[in-house]
Amino acid sequence: MLVTLIAALAGDRVIGESSGRIPWDHPRDRAHFRARTEGRWLLVGRRTYAEMEGWFGDRTPIILTRNEGFRPFSPAHRIANSVPTALDLARANGVPELIVCGGASVYEATLPFADRLVLTRLAMALQVAEPVQFPDFAECGEWCLRQVERWPAADGTSPARLEVHERKEK
Ligand SMILES: NC(=O)c1ccc[n+]([C@@H]2O[C@H](COP(=O)([O-])OP(=O)(O)OC[C@H]3O[C@@H](n4cnc5c(N)ncnc54)[C@H](OP(=O)(O)O)[C@@H]3O)[C@@H](O)[C@H]2O)c1
Repeated sequence: MLVTLIAALAGDRVIGESSGRIPWDHPRDRAHFRARTEGRWLLVGRRTYAEMEGWFGDRTPIILTRNEGFRPFSPAHRIANSVPTALDLARANGVPELIVCGGASVYEATLPFADRLVLTRLAMALQVAEPVQFPDFAECGEWCLRQVERWPAADGTSPARLEVHERKEK
């Protein structure tokens, strides 16, 4: 099973605010995220799951939480109390690719298990009081940039670059 992390990053790898908000609206990235996750199994942290309430449709989220009393919005949504448990659950269901959708703590916890990073790099710098960041994956030298797609600015949104990184063969 492939493990893919998907995220949108502004300058300095900022992915949101600690209060739990993504401080931009980028329609092209939203469309890309919808298409890339359609019909798929996703892994999300409990906070990101709450932010995405009502959005999942035909996708199957596994919610990562240590709270044994946690109840998902839908009985079709699954729960795991650790990353290995989530990976086992997805494998047991024959999932070919598990897509990790954040937030920050879940990207951090799943990076060691990841095969692929699908990153939208938004050409914007943000001034947010308490930013949360995507992990500094490049520093370990284990990743290779395999694909780049440039998105020009449109309808008042910033230009962006879609990057696909794959883990280097050992
Ligand atoms: N730009 C993007 O692409 C993007 C995507 C998604 C999210 N975000 C942003 O990311 C921020 C949220 O990130 P966050 O780190 O605060 O929250 P989060 O990762 O969504 O959720 C954190 C919660 O997930 C559970 N969890 C995390 N790691 C776990 C582990 N290893 N085992 C078991 N449970 C685990 C814990 O839940 P319990 O407390 O219930 O135990 C933890 O409190 C927001 O600003 C959001 O907007 C950005």
